[in-house]
Amino acid sequence: MLTDHRAVTNDTVLNRAAVDALSAHVALCDKHGVILGVNAAWRQFADDNGGGLPDYGIGLNYLRVLEAAVEWARVNGATKTEIAVTHGVRVGFSDVLSGRLPRFQIEYRCDAPGTPRWFLLTISRVTDHPFASVLVAHENTTAIKDAEAAQHEHQRVMAGEFSSVIEAIARLIEQRDPYTAGHQRGSVGWCNFIADEIGFDDDRRQGLLLGAGIHDIGKIAVPAEILTRPGRLSTLEMEMIRGHAAAGYDVLRDIAFPWRIADMVHQHHENFDGSGYPLGLAGEEICIEARIIAVADMFDAMTSHRPYRAAHTVGDAIDELRRMSGTRYDPEVVTAMLRVIEREMSDAMSVTKGSQG
Ligand SMILES: [Fe+2]
Repeated sequence: MLTDHRAVTNDTVLNRAAVDALSAHVALCDKHGVILGVNAAWRQFADDNGGGLPDYGIGLNYLRVLEAAVEWARVNGATKTEIAVTHGVRVGFSDVLSGRLPRFQIEYRCDAPGTPRWFLLTISRVTDHPFASVLVAHENTTAIKDAEAAQHEHQRVMAGEFSSVIEAIARLIEQRDPYTAGHQRGSVGWCNFIADEIGFDDDRRQGLLLGAGIHDIGKIAVPAEILTRPGRLSTLEMEMIRGHAAAGYDVLRDIAFPWRIADMVHQHHENFDGSGYPLGLAGEEICIEARIIAVADMFDAMTSHRPYRAAHTVGDAIDELRRMSGTRYDPEVVTAMLRVIEREMSDAMSVTKGSQG
């Protein structure tokens, strides 16, 4: 009996020491959400950051604490994101507490006090404990986030430095198919306008324009005589041309770009309704950049002169965009492109009028 008691006591001490050794801030709550205990990191964080909750929150209902935090955020002019995160945590805790969810996780940014930090909050259901029902753990992930951001920035700078090499590759592709020379650059211009319309930040725009600039890189694997032959192609020849999307992916897949360049190239002939190639992806399975390149690609190709046919009018290209919206093309990207065309045409008209006056 004494031995059993010692074993239980030793287990409790060991568990306590293990939880106190964690760097995450941990609290255990009962089936009503009342905080039963917290670990050393939780207490240390509260001491370092001005506390806020009496006795580190022990004895308080965590659900009520979160409800008060949502209200505090609303009253004190917190940002929409901060209010949404606090509300999300309250809902997540409630869902785990009631058993609707076994686990809830959210990453959030903590700006005050001190320098901004990132935390990963995990709320887990505890099923094998006589008193505790929910475990709350806030893990500081700032170092991971900083390392990810530094790596992304490094790759972004490297990609910028390699831009002249990438432009040379784009020219090389175009020289093999003089009929479409300048087409990739034309697509880049339209992609830039669509990025403005959709609200891409500078980083995403840089990735999109890089992908658009080399979207046909896989044509390097297609014999030049097939690329340049006007008129009807055999089924086999068509298959060889279609292979350029997968060939481009194979060329780029192992390069550590900070953006999904290989996917953009791979997916630029996928259709929104799943009828495209090479993978038959549909909707948001296709990365947004590839959906943009598809629209820019089509518009530039249709409105450009080819030796074997005259350029279509802008009106024809607009009709085609509207006709294919939702089937071949993402309707939101088409809407953005139509706004771009309208704006560019009205700008061009005003320039023409100005020069006539
Ligand atoms: Fe292509």
